[in-house]
Amino acid sequence: MRILVVNGPNLNMLEKRDATHYGSFSLGMIEESLSGTFPEIEFEMYQSNIEGEIVGKLQSADANYNGIVINPAAYSHYSLAIRDALELCNIPKIEVHLSNIHGREEFRQHSVTAAACNGVVAGLKEISYIAAVFALNKMING
Ligand code: DQA
Repeated sequence: MRILVVNGPNLNMLEKRDATHYGSFSLGMIEESLSGTFPEIEFEMYQSNIEGEIVGKLQSADANYNGIVINPAAYSHYSLAIRDALELCNIPKIEVHLSNIHGREEFRQHSVTAAACNGVVAGLKEISYIAAVFALNKMING
């Protein structure tokens, strides 16, 4: 089983961002924690700061993966292009946020991409990713 983990802009700088919201894990540490928790699953960790690159990656996801975890980062709040690309994916997909976007600034409280996903996990810092993979695994393998 192969899971694509897509990370949007500025998540490559995670260890330098506000730990109160985002925790203290780097993306590399999140990948290690996913592989350690789910040794039977193959993960591809993908990060891009560019909207069109994320759209391209999503367009090739059906053919190459069994499920998607996506943190669109700031694009969550306004990228209709990423939302449309997610709608085209027929494999299960879960949106994640490290921070609890519902308790933050008003502009972060709405995600335009979330409606194109099967579910959303927010506010658990790096555990959001683990919870999303747990759910995907159940959805795919029962
Ligand atoms: C984020 C929340 C977004 O509002 C923000 O722009 C991010 C990260 C999160 O994981 O909490 O870059 O998606």
